[in-house]
Amino acid sequence: MKDLTPSRESLEPIEIASIDEIRELQLERMKWSVRHAYENVPMYRQRFDEKGVHPDDLKSLDDLSKFPFTYKDDLRENYPFGLFAVPREQIVRLHASSGTTGKPTVVGYTQNDIDMWASMVARCLRASGTKPGDILHNAYGYGLFTGGLGAHYGAEKLGCTVVPISGGMTERQVMLIQDFKPSTIMVTPSYMLNILEQFNKAGIDPRDCSLDVGIFGAEPWTNSMREEIEAAFDMHAVDIYGLSEILGPGVANECVETKDDLHIWEDNFYPEIIDPETGEVLPDGEMGELVFTTLTKEGLPIVRYRTRDLTRLLPGTARSMRRMEKVTGRSDDMIILRGVNVFPTQIEEQVLTISNLAPYFQIELTKNGNMDAMKVLVEASSSALNNDEKEICSQTLSKKIKDTIGISVSVVVGEAGNVERSQGKARRVVDLRPKG
Ligand code: DLL
Repeated sequence: MKDLTPSRESLEPIEIASIDEIRELQLERMKWSVRHAYENVPMYRQRFDEKGVHPDDLKSLDDLSKFPFTYKDDLRENYPFGLFAVPREQIVRLHASSGTTGKPTVVGYTQNDIDMWASMVARCLRASGTKPGDILHNAYGYGLFTGGLGAHYGAEKLGCTVVPISGGMTERQVMLIQDFKPSTIMVTPSYMLNILEQFNKAGIDPRDCSLDVGIFGAEPWTNSMREEIEAAFDMHAVDIYGLSEILGPGVANECVETKDDLHIWEDNFYPEIIDPETGEVLPDGEMGELVFTTLTKEGLPIVRYRTRDLTRLLPGTARSMRRMEKVTGRSDDMIILRGVNVFPTQIEEQVLTISNLAPYFQIELTKNGNMDAMKVLVEASSSALNNDEKEICSQTLSKKIKDTIGISVSVVVGEAGNVERSQGKARRVVDLRPKG
């Protein structure tokens, strides 16, 4: 793998500023943002008044804990434009969640917001080792999803040549990677595995392709998956995090030189970790739910957004700003199986320890009488595996899951293609339990 460490001179001064400077900037911006929300968004005015807090009460960063939370449902209830803090004419871009049921959540950006977003993604790319002039293959989906356009504008801002291929048409993805020779790919980790499979089908060794780094996010993935992808492509794999309510991609990113979790771009987004049950703010280092307050956003300022993502805050390393540990699960994705909490990433980790299994998996939940049951669908890594060998894989995986997570599951080892392939965010869990 190439050394992609960016030069110190290429970083923005704030990335390596002192903690005091960062906190001072945050306080100044937070005061502006909370007041902007209060003065221009009826929901915030009403919520703050009900709680008896006023923007004037924000004298230190810790005072933020006095303010009420914002939830995903608040965006739904104010559908489509009710939380915008500027006249609609000043909103130059809309994005929306794909939400499986009901109304989507809509977010809006002013031109300044779009510029800030592009700068944050450019910063993520620099942290990942991408340089101006590089070719960047952008396979995040374009459209209402923030991934495609968010990554696109950031890559242009950095000065890359962008290939806006979006998701899907996997054969074509491989052809264009071969022909255009990008240094960087941006895509969900699960779709990257799809691309990997296509390389193998085409008889091309992925280690020979031009890619130096992949910037993967939009869904949880493990360090075991990082190793799998890095070995398969002989390239770096770094994590990018974001969510549409706060920005889209570009809220936090790993630095390629350390790959030790994600630096949060705290000059624009203020993180807190709270106890998801009580709402109480937890000290850095403790695991809990991530909450964000936007510090500079004009179109849709957000105060204390409950992300549902579980992680902890860690001190800065390669940059001054704090890091968030890789998000391995959201409280919404947690499966409670016979009293044991399970995240799909825990299953991913175990699947990847067995070399005769391919890195694809899906979890099926069913009811067995009154009991919930979990089936893990996986695939043999080679069609040469006979039934006895598959049976051994199945028993090994189910034993590993029992030993590490403490639950009994059935494992089905199928042929290649047995597990649904992802085109963007993978569907890890299929819940077949009767509703109600
Ligand atoms: O997924 C934005 C994005 C696009 C991020 C491309 C990175 C790359 P949403 O569709 O609003 O936005 O989904 C946000 O996805 O709350 C997390 O649960 C999850 N998520 C995003 N990035 C990561 C990551 C985009 N690196 C939700 N690791 C978030 C784990 C992630 N989960």
